[in-house]
Amino acid sequence: MTPERLTDKPFNPFETYERIDSDSFIEAKYNGSLKGEVVASGTKNMVSKVIAAALSCDNSNVQIENIPFVGDLDITLQLCRSLGLTYSVSRDKKLTLNIEDLKNYEVISNSEQGNRVAILLAGPVLSKIGRAVISKPGGCNIGERKIDYHLRGLESFGVNIIEKQDSYELDLKDGRRLHPSHFKLPFPSVGATENLLITASCAEGESVLENCALEPEIIELIKILQMSGVIIKTFAPNSLSIIGGKHSLDGPVRIIPDRVEIASLAIAALTTKGDVFIKDAQHEPLINFIGCVQEMGGGVEIKSEGIRFYYKEQLKPINITTQVYPGFPTDFQQPMAILMSQANGKSIIHETIFENRFLYFSELNKISENRHSFFVDDQCLETDPCRYQNLKYPHLAQINGPVAFRKGEIEITDLRAGFAALNAAILSDGVIIKNLKSLYRGYEDPVGKLKSLGAEIDIRV
Ligand code: EPU
Repeated sequence: MTPERLTDKPFNPFETYERIDSDSFIEAKYNGSLKGEVVASGTKNMVSKVIAAALSCDNSNVQIENIPFVGDLDITLQLCRSLGLTYSVSRDKKLTLNIEDLKNYEVISNSEQGNRVAILLAGPVLSKIGRAVISKPGGCNIGERKIDYHLRGLESFGVNIIEKQDSYELDLKDGRRLHPSHFKLPFPSVGATENLLITASCAEGESVLENCALEPEIIELIKILQMSGVIIKTFAPNSLSIIGGKHSLDGPVRIIPDRVEIASLAIAALTTKGDVFIKDAQHEPLINFIGCVQEMGGGVEIKSEGIRFYYKEQLKPINITTQVYPGFPTDFQQPMAILMSQANGKSIIHETIFENRFLYFSELNKISENRHSFFVDDQCLETDPCRYQNLKYPHLAQINGPVAFRKGEIEITDLRAGFAALNAAILSDGVIIKNLKSLYRGYEDPVGKLKSLGAEIDIRV
């Protein structure tokens, strides 16, 4: 940990995120191929879940390494403060969380956008304090994003829930303890699986969760809970048995490199006909993505220290359907649209996880030479009907490449669309991007990273 001098401003890794307002903007234009090396940051969609798991432990503090400096973590730490927790964050990306300070029962977010994490703290807070008040979730506008599976799942552990306008009030039915449960998720939801896994770890006895999501970040969460002494077994195709009770985490835990950031940077490299080595990128969480890149004609070289992505030949179109892991991840969908935009011919994206994750296409069309380069429809892929069939959700996109991006101004509609906007801008004649908050909630210093690879890009906050 780097010591601070008394005259230094206190270290705040979230400064840019906090300063972004409605006047902030990013300006970028094409400046040749991206080249060089960039280090992957820790996973945004893992760090907050690890904090939730840490709160379920019985030791005095937990150390989390390789935390990403993203706005989403800033929001989660604010939730921790509302519980009375103290913590320290060091420049070398270590978070020490004093979990013995957990004294309050209100998990309240004051941030304008919020995130999806508050409800994941329900199990630990209930098991330690017996009641909880939880802010309703925020997060990106990519669909209705109900939390009914979380709530029904929590009820199955003996939790009473009263819904208020901005929050949920929770307490325990019997004897002020969580009891074990057998619950089948209606759909393998990432957040609900994580929530119920953590809750089951707090409940004394064996719980069974069926139809779970098993994304790489959830496997990591399982590993961390096992390290803390929770007995967890997996059953095919996607069930978990969890024997919970008192558990404690002694050593530090480490956040894995962010597969969405890695895919986003890889795509930026390929679209500029570049050659970029992403240090710390791991092969396994990216197998589907790497297969798609190879099928499109992109170059991939896998090494033990990271992965090199490089342009080899004119990219070919591809069709993808987003699915739960190990299918093509919905979070890669928006950056992937920009890769498809540089292929020669028609590509298709069938989004089956979120019903409204295509808002960004109308923004991209504003800066496309042909205003109909990105075309959205409410049908399913004929060969592959999904749960949104006949419900009139715009969840099928056609991308007619190659697309040339001209001058213009666009808005970011959601976090991953934010990176798609950056990528389009570094291919363009000059684009201004506004509404930056969600981009910096999910990516660590995206402008700095692209700049270090040779992009002409700047942020004004
Ligand atoms: N769903 C329900 N009810 C629930 C829970 C989910 O109907 O109680 C539905 C959702 O509406 C959606 C589907 O189930 O249609 C899947 O949602 P899921 O619960 O898996 O998503 P999440 O936990 O809210 C996380 C990530 C998302 C990522 C999805 C899918 C975090 C903080 N967020 O969201 O990440 O897209 O899983 O992989 O982990 C992002 O990083 O940009 C992002 C949106």
